[in-house]
Amino acid sequence: MTQTRHLRIGSDDLDTAAALLRAGELVSFPTETVYGLGADATNGQAVAGIFAAKGRPRFNPLIAHVADVDMARQLVDWPDAAEALAAAFWPGPLSMVLPLRPGSGVSELVTAGLSTLAVRLPAHPVARDLLARVGRPVAAPSANPSGRISPTEAAHVLDGLGGRIAAVLDAGPAAVGVESTIVGLTDTPRLLRPGGVPAEAIEAVLGTSLAPADAAITAPGQLSSHYAPGAALRMNATAPIAGEVYLGFGPMDCDLNLSATGDLAEAAANLFGHLHKLDLTGQPIAVAPIPETGLGQAITDRLTRAAAPRP
Ligand code: TXA
Ligand code: MG
Repeated sequence: MTQTRHLRIGSDDLDTAAALLRAGELVSFPTETVYGLGADATNGQAVAGIFAAKGRPRFNPLIAHVADVDMARQLVDWPDAAEALAAAFWPGPLSMVLPLRPGSGVSELVTAGLSTLAVRLPAHPVARDLLARVGRPVAAPSANPSGRISPTEAAHVLDGLGGRIAAVLDAGPAAVGVESTIVGLTDTPRLLRPGGVPAEAIEAVLGTSLAPADAAITAPGQLSSHYAPGAALRMNATAPIAGEVYLGFGPMDCDLNLSATGDLAEAAANLFGHLHKLDLTGQPIAVAPIPETGLGQAITDRLTRAAAPRP
């Protein structure tokens, strides 16, 4: 059991966090999507620590976070589609799965032995500063115990993983609130996970529609139950039934509202924080209907997994 250090974001704290990561320790850091649980992606022992701290049942592949486009190019092949998507959406909530380059130095635990690697250049200035100071790719899943609600604040990280990681770097609430969109670019472009960049925007840049995930490939969050609060969650509820707390969307009476004005970006930013709060009531959660366009696709994806039967 370690004491988890709660670092605020002065320059000394960024140096401390970078030094801990370089030494093989686990550090949670803010990104614009959710808080990540970082480890040096070139250090297998450090990466193994991520799975142990999260209680992740299997070695799912992880996303390598890079400091700049050059670092990504050293790790993976870089087709024109990657260049176009990086120009349009990086830094930002987009991860790209690309062929791993030989000699990348990335631990096999990051790729789960696959010949591909997911790379992401986050937009959060604290994440970017930290990654530049580390100078190596940082593997980072969301900083929550496996299967539970993703963290959008340092307090969520401490609640879930306090005592199991070296430090959390606190920069306040995450702005986007749902994880990055994951696009596979190893054959035909595929949407592997909806997320912070709407699929429609990616399709507009590529000039082609995204194919669905290939079932044979390890797809994100394939564990169908994921992001789950302690009690049951019911979707598309036009009203709560007795005993339920009600998570609203749009103008309505409810316990908490994702966005009273029906704004999907605001709803995504509030999603996990509101679920954490409603989870504290211990009551089942009913969620109002959410449109499935734009960021609504990522929100609906997370809610569907949160509502799925538990293992
Ligand atoms: O916004 C985000 O992406 C956050 C922040 C911390 O950056 N990270 C995140 O990581 O959501 P995680 O581990 O919760 O989700 C990564 C997903 C995994 O479910 C995995 O299946 C998929 O990415 N993935 C990673 N590498 C892959 C690969 N080579 N091929 C296919 N899927 C991959
Ligand atoms: Mg996650």
